[in-house]
Amino acid sequence: MRSPLFCVKLYLVQTVITTSPEEAAEYVRRGGVVAFPTETVYGLGANIFDERALHKIFSAKQRPADNPLIAHIAETGQIAELSDEIIESAKKFIDAFFPGPLTIVVRKTRSVPLIATAGLDTIGIRMAGSALANRFLSACSTPVAAPSANLSGRPSPTTWEAVFEDLGGRIDCILKGGRTEIGIESTVVDCTSRVPRLLRSGSISVEQLRGIVPETEIYSPNKHTSARSPGMRHRHYSPNARVIIIENTAELSDEPNAAFIGVSRPSARFRQQQICLTEEEYARSVFEFFRECDRAEIKIIYCESVSETGIGTALMDRIRRAAE
Ligand code: TXA
Ligand code: MG
Repeated sequence: MRSPLFCVKLYLVQTVITTSPEEAAEYVRRGGVVAFPTETVYGLGANIFDERALHKIFSAKQRPADNPLIAHIAETGQIAELSDEIIESAKKFIDAFFPGPLTIVVRKTRSVPLIATAGLDTIGIRMAGSALANRFLSACSTPVAAPSANLSGRPSPTTWEAVFEDLGGRIDCILKGGRTEIGIESTVVDCTSRVPRLLRSGSISVEQLRGIVPETEIYSPNKHTSARSPGMRHRHYSPNARVIIIENTAELSDEPNAAFIGVSRPSARFRQQQICLTEEEYARSVFEFFRECDRAEIKIIYCESVSETGIGTALMDRIRRAAE
């Protein structure tokens, strides 16, 4: 059993907050863990070839060891350090969408430690699209393994304050940037066999993927027996409040301890509410809204459903998982 003293020692790290990507990268180069903004959500990064540093990611996040990490790169030249089997479909997606909110899953080289991939022989690779992420990743001079920078199970962080709320005192450094632009995580597509499979929806839609590789399938756990995206099994995106999805805002009545987020204006009144102009704004805001509701000790969050096209597919996926 762990003694209380051990726990105190484990968690009392001084978390440096900086706006300098070069200073933040220095912590990665010295074997530390650093939160950094991307265009989707904040990630928690470490050198992918440093097993000790990778362990720190799992322990800071309290992440189950069977959930693989994504490798973040600064330039396509780094792909060769991670995989020597990039098939045609993967090449096409790289040309079309890198840098951007897309993760491709490919066979990994032996040099990538198994702890990074949760024992899988494949690795997710993504080249983040924001200029600040790119400066940070370039300064790290190595591919950086990074899951979202939240405690496991909590909504992904879209602000540096949300990162601090979950991981302050548990990680070495936070690279402070603005609020992330997209607000939900990257699209994940498995490119290990001839027909690519969408594992996780994101702002790059299946329609866009099919525009590049028309055969692209949507992975369905019922149809496909092997669990290709282990992370999707775990509890996700959950605020403390109960999340309820509603189709029609006319069904709602005033409730003192409830909140609402959606694209329509309900006639009922709520302590906390956010009316978004577009589905993009809804996606950008939803995780931070969940956190605001927790800070205000809201008990129920009503989320208006949206049509499942474009970013609506990813948004509905996240809201459903939060409501589970
Ligand atoms: O936008 C994003 O993707 C953010 C930013 C920080 O880049 N990262 C992120 O990482 O969302 P994470 O760890 O929270 O989610 C990674 C997802 C999980 O569902 C995981 O199971 C899946 O990608 N994944 C990673 N490597 C995989 C692999 N080799 N095979 C199948 N699925 C994989
Ligand atoms: Mg995550």
